[in-house]
Amino acid sequence: MKKRILLIVMFVGATFLLASDGLYAGTEVKDEIRMENHAYDEHKKSIPVFTHKKHATEYTAKNPDLFKNGCGECHHDDDNKPLKELQEGDEVQNCIECHKKPAYMRGKKAKGLTKEQKLEYHANAIHYNCKGCHKLFNKKMKLKSKDKGAAPRTCKQCHPKQ
Ligand code: HEC
Ligand code: HEC
Ligand code: HEC
Ligand code: HEC
Repeated sequence: MKKRILLIVMFVGATFLLASDGLYAGTEVKDEIRMENHAYDEHKKSIPVFTHKKHATEYTAKNPDLFKNGCGECHHDDDNKPLKELQEGDEVQNCIECHKKPAYMRGKKAKGLTKEQKLEYHANAIHYNCKGCHKLFNKKMKLKSKDKGAAPRTCKQCHPKQ
């Protein structure tokens, strides 16, 4: 009997640990996500706040010609196929589960790495996704980085000075 209780306690404990670590699949389309992945020992930059719901609804829906894949503009499967049919309530894996290495490789450190190798790094995959779309959007809308309604492209705009 005692053994069983111990096992249950261990199981619940492990579940909490996993959840607090961010290494889990979520189902809620949160309004805002503080991008503070716990796989990093420490964050060198300030924590970006990502307006998830606005991105998932307004921003992508506002530009259906530009963003044909809906949720799949950012969420994909392990073949990198966009999850176009994703809906609120579906389980979504965190990016870190596949882009496993918690670091940002650029400059000298990134020298010689192929595109595939860079994408193994979490921050490289994230930046590629966020900045790639922002660049495309601003270009299409003929907006400069500082213009109103432009999507942020500089480090400070996403990682504000604290
Ligand atoms: C512009 C990019 C983008 C779009 C569009 C988008 N998401 Fe996300 N979503 C993200 C990012 C980034 C995360 C955080 C993932 C992480 O922390 O690894 C996330 C997380 C999630 C999570 C998990 C939240 C949690 O608790 O961990 C769910 C569920 C989700 N999205 C559902 C959706 C659905 C449904 C849609 C379409 C209606 C959608 N997303 C559209 C980028 C996007
Ligand atoms: C189930 C595993 C899995 C998850 C979860 C996942 N990815 Fe990927 N992702 C991949 C694979 C596989 C590729 C292709 C890698 C390659 O070409 O080496 C890829 C490629 C990419 C690329 C390059 C796209 C291109 O056009 O070449 C970006 C950017 C990216 N992922 C960002 C993200 C972001 C942001 C998230 C979380 C919202 C995420 N990924 C979640 C597996 C995943
Ligand atoms: C599919 C395209 C797309 C992707 C991917 C994307 N964004 Fe955006 N983002 C936009 C657009 C479009 C705007 C400008 C919307 C406006 O102001 O009308 C924007 C604006 C923003 C803004 C300023 C406005 C606000 O809501 O805070 C921030 C910050 C931002 N994005 C962060 C991110 C981050 C972080 C990621 C990656 C996790 C990301 N974005 C990925 C399209 C995208
Ligand atoms: C569009 C928004 C955006 C822009 C622009 C951006 N970042 Fe990030 N960056 C993010 C997000 C989101 C993460 C993921 C943080 C997490 O999930 O823990 C990240 C992660 C990182 C990380 C790894 C985590 C850490 O804090 O150590 C570094 C380093 C980093 N960024 C540096 C930069 C630098 C340098 C620039 C400018 C050249 C830059 N970023 C521009 C959104 C952005």
